[in-house]
Amino acid sequence: MKPSDFPRDIRFRTAGDAFIENGVAHLRNYADIKRVMLDEEAKEFTQDTSYWAPQNQRIHISWYFLWATGKRKADGSVGRHDLLRSIIEPYFRTKPVKEMALQIENDSKVLIRKIIEKGTGHFDLANEYAYLLSLRTICSMVGLPYEREKWMRAQLEIFTQTPDLEQVKREPQEVEDYFREVIHYRQKKPGNEAIDILIEAWQNEKITEIELMGYMWGLFQAGTDTTGTNIINALSLFGEFGLLDEARANIHNEEWLRRAGEEVLRFGTPFAAGPSLAIKDVTLDSGLHIPAMTMVRLWFSAANRDEYINGGNPNATSPEIFDIHRWPNQHMTFGLGMHYCVGSQLAKLETKIALQTLLHYLPNLQFDQTKPFDRFAGIVDGVKEAHFTFDQQKAEKLLDQLL
Ligand code: HEM
Repeated sequence: MKPSDFPRDIRFRTAGDAFIENGVAHLRNYADIKRVMLDEEAKEFTQDTSYWAPQNQRIHISWYFLWATGKRKADGSVGRHDLLRSIIEPYFRTKPVKEMALQIENDSKVLIRKIIEKGTGHFDLANEYAYLLSLRTICSMVGLPYEREKWMRAQLEIFTQTPDLEQVKREPQEVEDYFREVIHYRQKKPGNEAIDILIEAWQNEKITEIELMGYMWGLFQAGTDTTGTNIINALSLFGEFGLLDEARANIHNEEWLRRAGEEVLRFGTPFAAGPSLAIKDVTLDSGLHIPAMTMVRLWFSAANRDEYINGGNPNATSPEIFDIHRWPNQHMTFGLGMHYCVGSQLAKLETKIALQTLLHYLPNLQFDQTKPFDRFAGIVDGVKEAHFTFDQQKAEKLLDQLL
């Protein structure tokens, strides 16, 4: 498998008309998805997914996270989204981008040091770097200790490799127990992280305990495998298309990093599809009729292959092609409208720092085509392994800078 291959039904990585299959409407072009995502008053669609959940039983805490809620529920009653988002959004607008850069750089250096100290000149970018960096970043931001890093990764993998949101089972009791332990500890020793804002909202009865745990899980899930995958996509796609030398030459060129970064986000689309529900009969522009109460899947990965992403630029290359100089690049990797990803700036910052530090401290970093590259298609279209080599001797000379 090559980094540009995605092990998913090709219809969901190709732009086109919507279709209904097994009772689910699959939307695959920019205009259709925009219609749903900008329907903020929930006149035709709602993103509140409580109707999917098995009734009268305790469901996975991720269902209580803001991206599974809407302005309105399917029955028209007020949903939880706007309140949940208003509690956390201000924190993202200021804290992470301004203050997280140093933390991310330090975490990146620690991981790179470990890779050089192995002495082999080889590493698996997915398991020895990218998913660990993204997990540590979220832990620092949310206020979760890293001490149970391996256990947390294992819990996440169970979740993200589940093929569909509807198949997600209730989380193991140990997750709930651990989150309660962390909440209890933070109540006694408050800090300045997202968790402190959330605990305060819970104490003031703005949110319930299960919503608090939904946030803890949701932030950890929303920001870890998505961003880790994006870092792997960047270096692996550069490797596949012979762009690593160009990347090395441009690690301080903000404009180059920005354009290449947007193209990686578009082409890879780590979070391939979002959920929605038609709350009344809807006819799309293509003529497809979607009956009321049909579950809808919004395929960002397909819409990102729609000509629309080129913003009308007649000289742009086809969206099927990976082109780091593409501009404009109107992808929908972070969604649109009121659910637009709150962590988008953090994800971009993390990817930029990962590229800068890896390409600097691992001289002659190369994609290792002799070893397998393996993706999976789950809730996140993630990567199981991605191997790279570097010049071990030259890297050891830089170890002093990694203290
Ligand atoms: C490359 C990395 C990322 C990708 C591709 C991504 C993608 C997305 C997408 C597509 C949505 C909209 C989902 C929908 O409408 O169904 C979303 C929402 C969200 N993302 Fe991200 N995300 C990334 C990183 C992050 C990070 C680092 C965080 C922060 C911890 C984060 C937190 C959130 C939250 C809280 C929402 C829900 C917003 C709402 O419903 O109002 N994401 N993300």
